[in-house]
Parts: sequence; structure tokens; C-alpha cells
Amino acid sequence: MVGEIAVESGERAAMGGAAGGRVAIRVRGLCKHFGRGEQRVSALRGIDWEVQTGELSMIVGPSGCGKTTLLSVIAGILNCDAGQVNIFGQETTRLSDSARTRFRAAHIGFIFQQYNLLPALTAAENAAVPLVIAGWGRDRAVRRASALLDSLGMGAKLGSLPNQLSGGQMQRVAIARALVHEPRLLVCDEPTAALDHETGLNVMNLLREQAVRPDRAVVVVTHDNRVFHFGDRLTRMDDGAIVEIVDQRRGAA
Ligand SMILES: Nc1ncnc2c1ncn2[C@@H]1O[C@H](COP(=O)(O)OP(=O)(O)O)[C@@H](O)[C@H]1O
Ligand SMILES: [Mg+2]
Repeated sequence: MVGEIAVESGERAAMGGAAGGRVAIRVRGLCKHFGRGEQRVSALRGIDWEVQTGELSMIVGPSGCGKTTLLSVIAGILNCDAGQVNIFGQETTRLSDSARTRFRAAHIGFIFQQYNLLPALTAAENAAVPLVIAGWGRDRAVRRASALLDSLGMGAKLGSLPNQLSGGQMQRVAIARALVHEPRLLVCDEPTAALDHETGLNVMNLLREQAVRPDRAVVVVTHDNRVFHFGDRLTRMDDGAIVEIVDQRRGAA
């Protein structure tokens, strides 16, 4: 079944078809296990999967089914045991660790469930980190990050430390940090898990806006069923495998 879906989405990409996109992510035969002996856990059992540009793709499934592992392998934060990851035509699994890190810094924004903000930096400084890593001067980086935070409704909190922010505000800083260097691919691990319903919907709308920009793609891992409907496609995982892919676009066959 998964094989059939991969062929179908490949055809759609070749036709420049319904999704209107090109292939943003293509993974083939991804396997990943943790531990050994009796402790061995197969987190990914041969995943074949694709995302087109212009698409907000959701990965859903019960806790422990491998969602974070898949996202981490796609983003190049975690090495897989077998299989290939191709991002915008670059087979990242072939790159050296340092080249993969550079590729990630240039092209991928990662939003973590627990925000991972640096406690000693202000909101604007936290959001500026990817630019500083990319070699920008500090002041210019903070100015760019501040403008982005302002556009996310955080203009009054630029100088606040993380412990002075609410969950929704910290998530906005994390989103700004993931977007500030204009990555083509945004991957988000349970971005609404710690948020109230309304803030969660605002965050999902922000992610949607990113997905429809030219040549972009967004992947959201979640088990928050209140936001499932935001996905153009919904991929269900269970026990390290893809069990269903649902096309949720209006008018989709
Ligand atoms: N660093 C790790 N060491 C050992 N086991 C891990 C590690 N990370 C994940 N796992 C295991 O791999 C499986 C998939 O985990 P994960 O990808 O985090 O699932 P999900 O994000 O869907 O909740 C789980 O059984 C989990 O316990
Ligand atoms: Mg997880």
C-alpha cells in the first residue's frame, strides 16, 4: 500500500499535478533502531514517504510510534541505520556529518516541542541565533529577528527572557527562530502540544502561511487531533511504519 502511494505521488510530481509542487522530501527504506539485545526497539521499519513543495504534511500516530525519530532523521539531526533521505534534490544521507549540518543550517528550520530556548538570551536574541550561526553580525541579526517577532505579534516582548514569557509566546519565539533564515523546509515536532486551543490554532495558521510560499514545505508531527484538519495530507504511523496516507485537500479524489 505504501509503495502504491509513493508511485502515485511521484506521478503527481512528474505532472506538476494536483499538489502543484515539486518533491521537497523523498525518503526510501528508512530504518532506525535504538538499543540492543532485549532492549532493542525498531523505531523506523523501512519508511517510504514523500512531501511536495507547497504542502503542509502532517504525521500523526500514538506516542512511541516513531514520529520524532522520522522527523529527526529527515532533518539530519539523527543518523538512520539504512535508507535514503532526499531534500530538494540533495541526498542528505550521502553527506558527511559536517556537510549535513551545513545543509540543515541553510535549508531546514526545526521547531521542537519543548521550545529549546536559551534561558540567558532575550526573545529577539534567541530568534536571531540561526543568523548569527550563518555569520551575520549580532546587531543586524537581532534587528531582522525583531522584525519577524513583531510580525508574529511579539513586538512588546523582544527584550524579555524566556522565563518571562507564556507558553504561546515561547512557541512564537521558537517559530521565529526556525523561520528567521528563511529555510525552505520547516519541520515541527508537536508544535501545539503545550498550547491552549486558540494559541494552537494561531500557530497552525502561521505554519500554513509558510507552507504556501513558493518552493516551501512544512511537516508537522502531532497527536493533537484538534489540528489534524490543517494538513494537506495526513500520514498515520504505527509501530515504526506508515499505515495510511489521507489526502485532505479540498476536491482531492
Ligand atoms: N534515544 C533513544 N534511545 C532509545 N530509544 C529511543 C530513543 N528515542 C526514541 N526511542 C524509542 O523509539 C520509539 C519511537 O520513539 P519516538 O520517535 O520518540 O516516538 P514518537 O515521537 O512517535 O512518540 C519509542 O519506542 C522510543 O521509546
Ligand atoms: Mg515525539
